[in-house]
Amino acid sequence: MLTTNQVVLPKIAQERLKRLESRTAKIGVIGLGYVGLPLSLLLSEAGFKVTGFDIDTNKVTDLEAGRSYIFRIPQEEIQGARQHGFTATTDFSHLSDQDAIIMCVPTPLTEHREPDLSYVENTTRAAAPWIQEGQLVVLESTTYPGTTEELMIPILEAENLHGLKVQGKGTAAEQGVFYVAFSPEREDPGNVTVARHNIPKVVGGHEEIATELAAVLYEGIFTRSVRVSSTRVAEMTKLLENIYRCVNIALVNELKLLSLRMGVDIWEVIDAASTKPFGFHPFYPGPGLGGHCIPIDPFYLSWKAKEYDFNTRFIELAGEVNESMPAHVVQYVAKGLNEHKKAVNGSKILMLGMAYKKDIDDLRESPSLTVIELLREQGAEVLYNDPYFPTVGRGRHYNLNMTCTPLEDLEQYDCVLIMTDHSDYDYEDIVSHSQLVVDSRNATKGIQSGKIVRC
Ligand SMILES: NC(=O)c1ccc[n+]([C@@H]2O[C@H](COP(=O)([O-])OP(=O)(O)OC[C@H]3O[C@@H](n4cnc5c(N)ncnc54)[C@H](O)[C@@H]3O)[C@@H](O)[C@H]2O)c1
Repeated sequence: MLTTNQVVLPKIAQERLKRLESRTAKIGVIGLGYVGLPLSLLLSEAGFKVTGFDIDTNKVTDLEAGRSYIFRIPQEEIQGARQHGFTATTDFSHLSDQDAIIMCVPTPLTEHREPDLSYVENTTRAAAPWIQEGQLVVLESTTYPGTTEELMIPILEAENLHGLKVQGKGTAAEQGVFYVAFSPEREDPGNVTVARHNIPKVVGGHEEIATELAAVLYEGIFTRSVRVSSTRVAEMTKLLENIYRCVNIALVNELKLLSLRMGVDIWEVIDAASTKPFGFHPFYPGPGLGGHCIPIDPFYLSWKAKEYDFNTRFIELAGEVNESMPAHVVQYVAKGLNEHKKAVNGSKILMLGMAYKKDIDDLRESPSLTVIELLREQGAEVLYNDPYFPTVGRGRHYNLNMTCTPLEDLEQYDCVLIMTDHSDYDYEDIVSHSQLVVDSRNATKGIQSGKIVRC
């Protein structure tokens, strides 16, 4: 038995631990998207032997050819990782060679806005047959408390080929077990001020050996692991972080709506309040929530809460306010056009920004998609410009088939609508050449012009 951090490890975990500590361990990452690919690269850079698994053959082919499909990840990083032994595959049988397996697959909502755990379930089923004694399996996908214990572990136990059981919460077994933990991903897409490896990593194992193995694994790439007492605590931690953001964004969105009526500049208010050195953290209003996390994750908890006869009122209210924002933007487009004696119907509108957030190439749940739909319903002709999206085809909730319109001849548009405040745009120039600018992001801050409608 080896003792580490007050945890007594049986022999089957000791070997894995040594390899994790010396970074000679083999790590399998399942799901090579926005979370899994950067994680694979970090692990590879730290010296681990990394194998990426995905069902998307295009991604695997790209990675094997050293190509990147995520804007902010340069080719060279993929090629560097390849030289360190990083490979990608669709063949899950290679999972049996890994010391640890990390799952980073999507957790969206269904059409009825309920948790869609089909990706987690399918991935777990695909991985289960290959699980080996002493292996560590970590789930990173954001989800409600209980997913790891209630969904993942039963499948892994029932469908692995060696009759293995997850290490229970009592005495450490000497054989016949594997280890399971949950560790949420924390990422702020587009944020270049916080180095990724400086973001502390929360880890919660099904029991303490799993917590220890997962903590040591992540300490190989992050400055600090934060050990918590269970997978449920780790799952709930992620939801608290995102619900905190969702509720506070809803609060400033609501105050923006009121401030507009009162003739008060909410952005100036937030800047002034931010000078308070304690008890205030700024959040900013916008045209609605976007991304894979903030508009979705809170509803994982409100769905699970029903099992406990509990109504999560803050989450529901925040959802209601945030979801009303795209319609508010459309209302201000109509207001701006009206001042020019024009109707939305028949107007030609250039929307700036498809991404849900500045300087990123992600349009999942982007409010721009909803605004296009609402404007088209009212008879507007909508075009878009976004340096990050040459084209926009179809996704889970949209089917647009649009091509990026060059940012020129702005005079021809009845309205230029700023939906994303990308840094590449020259807002002075945009305002000077446009008839009307509706700004949902305060991107034109400081520019004095009667052509601007801020909303
Ligand atoms: N993107 C973010 O900024 C972010 C931040 C924090 C947490 N998260 C969470 O991380 C998880 C992953 O998000 P993402 O943004 O990386 O998603 P993504 O859609 O970018 O990537 C998921 C990948 O999983 C693959 N996949 C789907 N089913 C699979 C299966 N059965 N087997 C193997 N691969 C499969 C997909 O092909 C895709 O490449 C989600 O739960 C999300 O909520 C995301």
